Formats: sequence, structure tokens, C-alpha cells
Amino acid sequence: MFIPKEIEIIEVGPRDGLQNEPLPISTEDKKKLISQLAKAGFSRMETTSFVHPKWVPQMADCEEISSYCNELGITYIALTPNLKALERAIAAKAPQIAVFIGASNTFNKKNINKTTSESLDECVPMFERAKKEDIFIRAYISMAFKCPFQGDVSFDEVKYVCDRFVELGADEIDVGDTNGQADPKIVYERLARLRVLYPDTSFVGHFHDTEKMALANVVAAMQAGITKFDSSVGGLGGCPYSPGATGNLSTEDLLNMVSRMGIKTEVDYNELTKITPFAKSLSSKV
Ligand code: HMG
Ligand code: MG
Repeated sequence: MFIPKEIEIIEVGPRDGLQNEPLPISTEDKKKLISQLAKAGFSRMETTSFVHPKWVPQMADCEEISSYCNELGITYIALTPNLKALERAIAAKAPQIAVFIGASNTFNKKNINKTTSESLDECVPMFERAKKEDIFIRAYISMAFKCPFQGDVSFDEVKYVCDRFVELGADEIDVGDTNGQADPKIVYERLARLRVLYPDTSFVGHFHDTEKMALANVVAAMQAGITKFDSSVGGLGGCPYSPGATGNLSTEDLLNMVSRMGIKTEVDYNELTKITPFAKSLSSKV
């Protein structure tokens, strides 16, 4: 069994965890969560999205959250679904951005109102602009295994998006099991194939725990050589445009498992578990 010496855990709770919450969460509470997570040792977090507030009202305070993250001096990722979002992120001085495109065309249309191919076309000027500003680009392939609308997602659909991201020069490619329907077999096979096709690309695994297979999927992804994983404090999360998607992989579960396996991370488990009750208190679902 291949066990990496060290992995990076990217905490996505403040963004992916909270974006789907139906009741408004105060900006002050979001700031408190972010500062506590920074104290627990995460060197990178996803904290907000420059999306349209009508589409995702919970992220309407993205400018203020960015400004707070800049004050804290943390490295954070902000989601940018289109050029307008990127301009807002640049104005807010976000150090890292994430584009997110569904391998499933139907999902992409529901999520960002464009076909997969139209979204990839918009990435051309976005990548150029972000690179000029020296901004790190995370590129998500969402619904990379199964889709609640179309069912199975083929490897070729994933490869189609991945090819374009690699060609455009993404700094990392995040492979998302957005609705938590993947199992360890498909995760291993798909990620191993991607790693052979793109040996110089840095991949991230992003698993949801809908079917309680997220941890098993992490182990499968490690066998394929992946050493970066997203997770969400308290298991908060869900995607507003993916029916049935429940929480992200919980950071506590991930950290507990990898620590027992002797895998190093930069996060302090005791500090993290002190934050869990507060993080969960922000959610109406967990
Ligand atoms: P649209 O309505 O198609 O936009 O939304 P449009 O280009 O037609 O423009 C309509 C109006 O919106 C215009 O204003 C634009 O200026 C404005 P008007 O001229 O009518 O006054 N507009 C914006 N305003 C603020 N910020 C913007 C923006 N863009 C246009 N960025 C849009 C397109 C992408 C904005 C919309 O579809 C959207 O916000 N979608 C967000 C979806 C989202 O956040 N989903 C959850 C992300 S999670 C996910 O996908 C999975 C992931 O977590 C991975 C995983 O879990 O596996 C990443
Ligand atoms: Mg997610």
C-alpha cells in the first residue's frame, strides 16, 4: 500500500461548507471561523466566491471576507465562475482563484448557466488575465464521476475538461465528486489514468460524504499518487445546484485517519476539534 509521508489539507468549509446554508450567516461569524481555522494551522483555505448574490446569497459578502483574509495575511482561494467574478477578485486582491467547470454539461448549465464548452472558452481570457496578475489558478472539474442529472460521467468527458485546463496552465486541477457518488474503484482508476496522462500536473481530490465513502475515496486517491485533499470542518457543505449532495468530507475525519496512518499534515487536530462545535452551530443541517 502506498502511504505518502505528508499531505496537504485544504480547508473549504468557509466557502463550500457554508455556501448552501439557507439561513443568512453573519459576516462576523464567517470571519471568526476563518481566523480560528488559520490558528489551527491551515496554510490554504477556500473562503469565499465572487458569484452573483442572486444565485448564491450566502456569498454576497465576498468583498468583505476577502478584505478580512488579506488583513489576516492568509493564503485563500476565492471562486470565480466568470470574467466578471475574476475582475471582482482582482480588485479584492485575492491571491488564488478557482474556476469550476462541470464535466457534465447539464450540471454546468444549471450551476453557471453555460455549457461546459462555453465555460472552457471563457477560461481562455480568464487564465490570461489571472496569470498577468500572478494569481494562482485552481481549476475544478466538478461532477467528475457521476452526475445527478445525467448519471454516469465518462472518462472522456473528464479528459475533455482536463486537457483544456492543462493547456491553459492551471496551477492545480481539483477533481470533484460533487454529489458524493464515487466509490474507491472508480476514484483509483480515474485518478491513476489522469496521472499517467498528465504527469506534471498537480491534482487535488475533493470528495463528498453522501454515501459515506469519502475516506475510502481518499485512500484510493492516495494509491493513485494524490497528496492534496479538500475537506470541510464539521463536514459542512453541499452544492446548491446538485440535488442530494450532502456534506463535504469532514476535516476532522480526514485528519484523524491520516494521523493514525502516520501521514504528516500542518494542522493541529486538538485545535481543529475546538472549532468543530462553533462550525456546526453555523449550519442548519449538520
Ligand atoms: P448569469 O445570470 O448567467 O450571468 O450568471 P450573465 O452573464 O447573464 O449576467 C447577468 C447579470 O449578472 C449581469 O448584471 C451581470 O453583470 C451579473 P446586469 O447587467 O443584469 O445588471 N453578473 C455578476 N454579478 C456579480 N458577480 C458575478 C457576475 N456575473 C454576472 N460573477 C453566474 C452567471 C456565473 C454569475 C451565475 O451562474 C453564478 O453566480 N453561479 C454560481 C454558481 C455557484 O456558485 N455554484 C456553487 C459552486 S460549488 C461547485 O460548483 C462545486 C465545487 O464545490 C466542487 C465540488 O463540490 O465538487 C466547486
Ligand atoms: Mg464540494
